[in-house]
Amino acid sequence: MALNGRPNLALPEVRQNPYPLYSELRRNAPVCQVEYGGWAVSRYDDVQYVLKNPRLFSSEGLRFAAEPPWFGRSNPWCDSLVLKDPPMHGRLRTLVGRAFGPGLLTRLEPSIQATCEELTTRVLERRAVDFVDEFATPLPATVIGNLMGLDPSLYSRFRKWATDIASLSASRPEDTELLASVRGSVEEMERYFHEVLERRRREPGDDMVSDLLRARVDGESLTSTELMGFLFFLLLAGLETTINLLSSSTWMLARKPELLARLRADRSLIPRFIEEVLRYEPPIQASLRLCTEDVVVGGVSLPRGSLVYVLLGSALRDETQFAEADRFDLDRKGTENLAFGHGIHFCLGAQLARLEARIALEVLLARVGGLSLRSEQLEWVPSVTVRGLRALPIEVHPA
Ligand code: HEM
Repeated sequence: MALNGRPNLALPEVRQNPYPLYSELRRNAPVCQVEYGGWAVSRYDDVQYVLKNPRLFSSEGLRFAAEPPWFGRSNPWCDSLVLKDPPMHGRLRTLVGRAFGPGLLTRLEPSIQATCEELTTRVLERRAVDFVDEFATPLPATVIGNLMGLDPSLYSRFRKWATDIASLSASRPEDTELLASVRGSVEEMERYFHEVLERRRREPGDDMVSDLLRARVDGESLTSTELMGFLFFLLLAGLETTINLLSSSTWMLARKPELLARLRADRSLIPRFIEEVLRYEPPIQASLRLCTEDVVVGGVSLPRGSLVYVLLGSALRDETQFAEADRFDLDRKGTENLAFGHGIHFCLGAQLARLEARIALEVLLARVGGLSLRSEQLEWVPSVTVRGLRALPIEVHPA
């Protein structure tokens, strides 16, 4: 792909397959201005440098993806810890970090196992399924619902909310229909979480929302705005990313029967497979930062106030770090995977996402002998920040 003028990260053909553009950027314009404003940083070392320096690169930049000026209303997602810088970020991370302690995985594991068994039975009965709808969405929706103590009857709404908000990052002022749909989703979520918070205040339970209502650091609790922001963020962070990891993993296995056979023969390779899917198709493709002063990145000067697209999806295909980076290689070792971020905002749910993916693949591979794609024409979610299949029509063959 040749670069003509400023690249447009939001173009539908780029979202279908962003890797040729990323590769061109790394080679010829590793720090460059993009269409609609902002700078794209595409090389591994530069991406790591930006993420490591919150004093120079503020996470307020994410506001541009979640609350663009043409959205026309506030998005509570922006009140969550992921947009905060030190020292505020540290205070929030301490408060919510406790809820992610080691006990969490032990508590959730049995229900993850049971849900995977149930969903596998269902897909095997139906044979021809949309994997995103029938497995990749209900698993994390059930897990995040259990974690937060939410009402299972609303699980089917969760994906719409998550996809709607993710698509804001590739939206433009003229996308009136999409913007109206996202505003509707934000209003529904707000109403819903108000009710959840009210109920938990009256009747605290054994869930993360009750833990967050009780949490104190130096006698201080989370404010109502911070709580609402965190619930928004958690539902979206826990859902869209994990759905995409599960569907990209299954897509890979459906396209590579030899890989499926290798994993079935030796299931201890599953964690390595998950790490390589995270590198090859990172569910979070980009984060955003705002320069707090004039800075130099990769030899290029960026003025204070510049918006920076931190292209994780490109860094993870950087040939200087990953030999034959465009090849899916189960035997790859070495360089740190940036799929869960780096530095102070490193993902709090990384171990939970890995656990869900590992159990899902263990159960599927024990009972499924083969997968075939029912369509070669797959559509990806239109988002600059998130990468995931809208649907994955496959046929599931029993072992
Ligand atoms: C495959 C699944 C996942 C991926 C790829 C992923 C990726 C990421 C990334 C890249 C960040 C850093 C964002 C930035 O620096 O701007 C992040 C932060 C975060 N993630 Fe995840 N995530 C995943 C699953 C989850 C899950 C399941 C949860 C919770 C249930 C979660 C909770 C969080 C939280 C709370 C933060 C903010 C941490 C902070 O700002 O200090 N994530 N995630």
